[in-house]
Amino acid sequence: MAQAADQALVWTTIWADESATQAFATQLAKALQSWPGGRDARLELRGNLGVGKTTLVRHLLRAAGVQGRIKSPTYAVVEPHQVGQGDGAWPIWHFDFYRFNDPQEWEDAGFRDIFAGPGLKLMEWPDKVDGQLPPPDWVIGLQALDEARRQVRIEAGTAQGLAWLATWPTGSRHAP
Ligand SMILES: Nc1ncnc2c1ncn2[C@@H]1O[C@H](COP(=O)(O)OP(=O)(O)OP(=O)(O)O)[C@@H](O)[C@H]1O
Ligand SMILES: [Mg+2]
Repeated sequence: MAQAADQALVWTTIWADESATQAFATQLAKALQSWPGGRDARLELRGNLGVGKTTLVRHLLRAAGVQGRIKSPTYAVVEPHQVGQGDGAWPIWHFDFYRFNDPQEWEDAGFRDIFAGPGLKLMEWPDKVDGQLPPPDWVIGLQALDEARRQVRIEAGTAQGLAWLATWPTGSRHAP
């Protein structure tokens, strides 16, 4: 445990406006495709209503190559996307658990299967399904400082998430 604590890392930065959010999303979309296991990453997005979780996801999806209209999963709980075709296809699952209130739905809606399968999982409002989700590789926490500025805090929840975070270029790192 001592070793895990030594390695624990928090990455923080401030996005000055949405274009900074977009730049981060673009960098992340690229990195996920190059990191070992990155295409199957589990990323939690936390923060108050309207802070910018969906905005970050939309920029990430666009940067990954998703075309056409990007629907928000608010009512459907999950919105599936796919980049590319055939062997190189990359599934991306965008969850919004805000309205999730029936634990039975977890089984019925096939979420267990999705989480057991391949693809990137992006999760808004993961606290609504506490205890059902597998550990996230990253928890990305957002906090509004004013209209456009966002305080960003990333914490790794898995060994591979920690390895990715250690190589993540900009921002500052410190112990939690
Ligand atoms: N730096 C920024 N990053 C992201 N969004 C920003 C930023 N500055 C302003 N915004 C605006 O803040 C709003 C964020 O809305 P968004 O739907 O992404 O929030 P959310 O966190 O997904 O909310 P909810 O909890 O309801 O799902 C958008 O209108 C976006 O344009
Ligand atoms: Mg949202």
